[in-house]
Amino acid sequence: RKQNKIIIFSLVSFRCPLLSLTLCMAGPQKFSLSGSSHPVVGIVGQDVVLPCQLSPAARLPRMDLWWRKIGTGFIPVHEYLDVGPTEQAGEGYQNRTELFRQEFSNGNVSLKLKRLRVADGGTYHCFVRNPQWSQEATTELQIAAVAPVFIGMVGPRGQGIGLVCRSTGWFPKPELQWIGKNKQNRAMESVTDVTQDKENLYSVVSHATVTEEDNGDISCIMRNGLLEIEQQSAIYLSSDVFPRVSPWLTAFWALLALVLIAAGACAYIGYTGNGTGKQKFSEKKRTEE
Ligand SMILES: *[C@@H]1O[C@H](CO)[C@@H](O)[C@H](O)[C@H]1NC(C)=O
Ligand SMILES: *[C@@H]1O[C@H](CO)[C@@H](O)[C@H](O)[C@H]1NC(C)=O
Repeated sequence: RKQNKIIIFSLVSFRCPLLSLTLCMAGPQKFSLSGSSHPVVGIVGQDVVLPCQLSPAARLPRMDLWWRKIGTGFIPVHEYLDVGPTEQAGEGYQNRTELFRQEFSNGNVSLKLKRLRVADGGTYHCFVRNPQWSQEATTELQIAAVAPVFIGMVGPRGQGIGLVCRSTGWFPKPELQWIGKNKQNRAMESVTDVTQDKENLYSVVSHATVTEEDNGDISCIMRNGLLEIEQQSAIYLSSDVFPRVSPWLTAFWALLALVLIAAGACAYIGYTGNGTGKQKFSEKKRTEE
């Protein structure tokens, strides 16, 4: 049995550096660190807590802590050094980060990130170290934004009415749908233009033409697929707001068309009939000169 123990011991001491140096260095109290196994979703302009927890839930003595974002290398977000203690936020994170120092005694080394921007989305790295031990954990942050939707009337479009639906400040790109009561869940035809501002937020403008058969409530619905939240706006169009083709208007257009055809015919006859007219005129002009 003694021999077995020695073999196991030598195996462990041999394989240890290959597995993880940090594991070997863990003191009598074996700590481990964990982030969030699922992505954390934050809303633009609001605050979010990026979880990072030591287990067992106790304070690690002489602990230094680095929060960094994984980008092209590690981007410093917030560092805490036990000497002092001192804290410092990374560039672009000034006044936007906060640790819960009173929670350190519960092993809670989570980071609060404030006034979120679209650019804050990504993977965050929590690194804890003391002279005997170090470990890291990651937490993914996804950013979302929703905004109110506005619907408006543009004016008559042929036999129908043109409607416009607008919204500014979405992330990620929203899905848009026009719904009219007579279309039974079938989406209406529309032309949608999506743009992204310098903060990477999406703006949407969508045009649809509604015909009389669609009278009633017309809704424009935008959906954030990440938050599974919808915003919508509706307009009620009674059937008498649609442009009617009056018999007088038809008669007017028919008459106008006839007049134009007649005028065209006259001009043609006039041109071919007096083929020399032009020449005569120039001759007359010359004599005058
Ligand atoms: C850490 O503490 C903060 C503030 O009390 C809390 O919001 C957060 O949920 C805690 N995190 C964990 C992992 O317990
Ligand atoms: C952070 O807050 C301090 C104090 O309120 C202020 O002086 C400083 O300009 C702020 N820094 C940034 C980058 O907003």
